Amino acid sequence: MRLFLITNWALVYLGFLYLSAAADHGSSATINLRIEGETSTIFEGRIKTKGHKVTTALGGTHKCDGTNDGKYPTAGPTLTGALDDAAHLEGFTWDGQWFSSFEDYFITRIGGSQNTASKFWGLLKGYEFIDVGGCQERVSNGDQFLIAYEALDTQQYLRLSSASYSTKVGEPVIITVTNGTAQTPVEGATVNGQMTDADGKVTLTFTSGGLRQLKAEKLNAIRSNAIAIFVGGY
Ligand SMILES: *[C@@H]1O[C@H](CO)[C@@H](O)[C@H](O)[C@H]1NC(C)=O
Repeated sequence: MRLFLITNWALVYLGFLYLSAAADHGSSATINLRIEGETSTIFEGRIKTKGHKVTTALGGTHKCDGTNDGKYPTAGPTLTGALDDAAHLEGFTWDGQWFSSFEDYFITRIGGSQNTASKFWGLLKGYEFIDVGGCQERVSNGDQFLIAYEALDTQQYLRLSSASYSTKVGEPVIITVTNGTAQTPVEGATVNGQMTDADGKVTLTFTSGGLRQLKAEKLNAIRSNAIAIFVGGY
C-alpha cells in the first residue's frame, strides 16, 4: 500500500517535471503587455501567449511564431501573438497589413486608434523601440512590452513609480514621473490632477481609504504605466 502511494506520487512528480520542462522550452510565455491608444489605455496587464497563426481583415491568416522571415529557427511566443491573444481575451479588435517581403504584419489599427499619415503604432520592449515586426519578436516570461499609438510629435514615453505603494489617509506619498527611455525626470506631467515639479515629482495625500490606480499624462507624451497605491484608514 505504502509503496503504491509512493509510486503514484512519483508519477505525479514526474508529470510535473515534464510540464515544467515543456514550459521552459518556450512553448508559452506570460508577459506584461501595455497598449496605449489615442485617447485611452486599451490593455494593461499580464497575458499568456504561445506562437500561433494570426488573422487580420487586411492581411489574412499567417504564422506568427518567431520563425517569420527566418528570424528564429524554432517556433515560440511572439509580441503580435500576445496582442492577438489580448484582443480575444478583452474583446477589442485590431488590424494589420501583411508584407510577404518580411513575412510580418504592419499594425494599422488597435481598438479605435487607426493609423494616419502622421500617427502610427509603435512597438517597444521596455521603453526602447524594437527593430523587427511583432511576429519576429519572440517574448519570454516577465518581459515588458508597450504598443503605443503615437504622433510624429511624440517625444517621450512616461514611466510612473512611487517610493511606496501603500500609505494611510492623510499621509503623503511621493510619486515620480520619468522619461522611460532616458530615465530623466519629467516636469509638468499630470498625476491625479496634480502637476509634477522639476524633479518629476508630485506629493499626493488621500482623504479616504481604498485602492487608487494612477497614471501620468502629458501633451506629446505617451501616457504612463498604471500604479496602484493602497490607502489604509487610521
Ligand atoms: C526622452 O528620452 C529619449 C532617450 O534619451 C530622448 O530621445 C527624448 O528626447 C527624451 N524626451 C524628452 C521630451 O526629453
